[in-house]
Amino acid sequence: MLHTPSEGKDHVSAFNSKCMMSAIGNTPLIRLKSFSELVGTNVFAKLEYANPTLSAKDRIASYIVSKGLESGKLKPGGTLIDATSGNTGMALAHVSRYLGFDCVLTVADKASMEKVNSLKALGAKVVLCPSKVEPEDPRSYYSQAIALSQSIKGAFYTDQNFNPHNAEAHYCSTGPEIWNQMQGKLTHFVATVGTGGTISGTAKYLVEQDDSIQVIGVDAHGSVLKKYHETGIYDISIAHPYKMEGVGKSIIPGNVNFDIIDQFVKVGDLKSALRARNLAKKDGVWGGHSSGAALEAVFQMKDKFTPEDNIVVIFSDHGSKYLSTIYNDAWLEEKLYTNV
Ligand SMILES: Cc1ncc(COP(=O)(O)O)c(C=O)c1O
Repeated sequence: MLHTPSEGKDHVSAFNSKCMMSAIGNTPLIRLKSFSELVGTNVFAKLEYANPTLSAKDRIASYIVSKGLESGKLKPGGTLIDATSGNTGMALAHVSRYLGFDCVLTVADKASMEKVNSLKALGAKVVLCPSKVEPEDPRSYYSQAIALSQSIKGAFYTDQNFNPHNAEAHYCSTGPEIWNQMQGKLTHFVATVGTGGTISGTAKYLVEQDDSIQVIGVDAHGSVLKKYHETGIYDISIAHPYKMEGVGKSIIPGNVNFDIIDQFVKVGDLKSALRARNLAKKDGVWGGHSSGAALEAVFQMKDKFTPEDNIVVIFSDHGSKYLSTIYNDAWLEEKLYTNV
C-alpha cells in the first residue's frame, strides 16, 4: 500500500528502502480484556506502536516522502522539514536515513527528553521552540518550520498539519487494515486528534464501507478542536498549555475532516496517564499518553455503549517514549498533588 521511492538510488539503497517500507503498517489489533470488562463492551486496540519508530507516524512519513519524490517537489539530497511533537520527527528522521535526505525538525519544548534524544540519535537536527507562545508568534515551532523551509536550499516542508497526503496515508493503509482485521464488524472508531490525519483518513475508509460506524475524536483540555467542531468558532482564548503530546491543537489543521467526526470528547493529562498505566499493569499492553487518552474518552462514554458494540481505539505510540513522564512515579505524584 505504501509507496517505495527508488528515484536516484542505487540497487542496495533501493533494497534497503524497500525492506524498511515493508516494516511499516500491518500492525496488530487486539481485544483489551480488562478494559472491555471495565466498560462492559468490546474494546480493541490497533497497536500503532508496532511500527519501526513505535508510532503511527511511520505511515505518513514514508507516504509523504514518496509522494514528494513522485511530484518532483522533493529531490535527492534534499532536506525534510517539519514542526513535530516528536513522533513525526522520528519517523521522518528514520526515513531520511534510508533515503539520504537531511532532516531538520522544530520541536515544542514540552516534548519528552526521550523523544528529543531519539530524534538526534536518528541524525536529525532539532530546533527547540517555546510551547507557551501563540502559533503566529515567530518563535513558535510552526513559524520556525516555515521560516526554515524558506531559507534552506532543497527544503521539502512535509507539513503534516496541512499536507493531504497525511490523511491519505491512513486512508490507504490504516483504514483497510482495521476493516479487514475486524471483518467489517466494528461499531465505533476512536482516535485522538492532533493533525487529524489518523482519524480523518482512517474514518473516511471505514465509513465508506459502513456509514453506521460512529467516529469519536479525542481532544485535550486546553485545545481548540472540540469547540471548533461544535460551534465553528476558532477560540484561541480557551487554549492553555498541557502535557499530553500529539493530542489537541492551538490551530485548526487542514487534515482534520470535521464532517466525518460524529463527536469529540475532551480528556485531561492525569486521567489519561492513569488509564495508560493501568492497562500496562493489568494487560501488559504498553501504550503512550495518547493511548490512555483514547481509553479515557471511551470510559467517559461507557453508558452510551451496548455489550454487543465493537469499539476500535488507536494506540498511536509506545509507552517506552514516556518513561520520564507518565511512567515516572515522581511525575505522577506531582500531577496527583496538583490534580490537573
Ligand atoms: C502520540 C500521538 N498521539 C496522537 C497523535 C494524533 O495523531 P494525528 O496527528 O494523526 O491526529 C499524535 C500526533 O502527533 C501523536 O504524536
